[in-house]
Amino acid sequence: MKVLGIESSCDETGVALIDSDKGLLAHAIHTQIDMHRAYGGVVPELASRDHIRRVLVLADQVLEQAKTDKKQLDAVAVTEGPGLAGALLVGASVAHAVGYALNIPVVGVHHLEGHLLSARLADPAPDFPFIALLVSGGHTQFMRVGAFGSYELLGETLDDAAGEAFDKTAQLLGECYPGGPAVSRLAEAGTPGAVVLPRPMLHAPTLDMSFSGLKTAVLTAVRNAADPTDEKFRADLARGFVDAVVDVLVAKTVKAMKMTGISRVVVAGGVSANRQLRAALIEACRRRRARVYFPPMALCTDNGAMIAMAGMMRLMKMNEAERLAAARRWSFSVKPRWTLSQAARPDAVDPRQAHRNH
Ligand code: KG4
Ligand code: ZN
Repeated sequence: MKVLGIESSCDETGVALIDSDKGLLAHAIHTQIDMHRAYGGVVPELASRDHIRRVLVLADQVLEQAKTDKKQLDAVAVTEGPGLAGALLVGASVAHAVGYALNIPVVGVHHLEGHLLSARLADPAPDFPFIALLVSGGHTQFMRVGAFGSYELLGETLDDAAGEAFDKTAQLLGECYPGGPAVSRLAEAGTPGAVVLPRPMLHAPTLDMSFSGLKTAVLTAVRNAADPTDEKFRADLARGFVDAVVDVLVAKTVKAMKMTGISRVVVAGGVSANRQLRAALIEACRRRRARVYFPPMALCTDNGAMIAMAGMMRLMKMNEAERLAAARRWSFSVKPRWTLSQAARPDAVDPRQAHRNH
């Protein structure tokens, strides 16, 4: 089965082609980071317009790279939500147009389900069950992934996401959007322990987390600095910030393993590209004879391959009648606000997440 995956929920246009026998055949990503940088964050209208410009070009590129004709496609998978409404609509329009033209099924994928399953594109790929630590710009969550479609929320941030804290810290340190890679680079030159920042909820008995206090601590340090542009100060503060985030995430991961008895951990989402986090989790898991899996580096941030993978797994669970119905659905919508538990069980309302914006 060959599935074309399309991701356009935020500021990356991603297209990929996956084959159920041969794995990932090709993928291409266009990032809008340079375009949004001047505004310090993503401008939704600009994002939508750029997705329109890129998505068909990337699709052609991927098909050519994979030496596949579009008539050989068996299905299309597309990010249905959560994300920016206009941006999501671009991907959905293209996916459904392709589905209609080729008379093949189109499946909508939850963006976070894509991230959760992105480590299945790694070699070796993790078996179920595993604990997933999702750390992106909008989410910081622990999930118990029992099987495809079985996702139990174990704990999450009560305020800012870890990626958001990276972005805000970068801004305070005078670095460009998106802040993760910049703060990580700065931190490498910093002295460990020179600046010690709070580790919020480190010892709380739950897997919930909080990162907004950390951001305030960075703000206070910048305000009190004699010279906030001093290189050593910036590097030490970045180091203090990264060490605090990493300590909390590692401690909570260890707690999640103890609570669930599961010793396989998957880390996904943009922050999983962070070198310090990777090194600390590898070490913590090695000490406990646990295994940690990361998506391939290029597939940590948003991409079409994770959507193709999640879509393919869904299609493989569908029977013939369901696939036929998915090929005959000629109207479509997107879900800018959509929780993963709703996606896994469409009728369920998760009381912990019902009030949250996604
Ligand atoms: O998963 P993602 O691409 O988009 C969302 O779905 O949010 O994650 C983006 C986030 C941003 O906050 C970015 O600063 C962060 O991931 N990020 C990093 C690194 N690379 C990206 N954070 C820390 N270290 C990195 N190397
Ligand atoms: Zn994402």
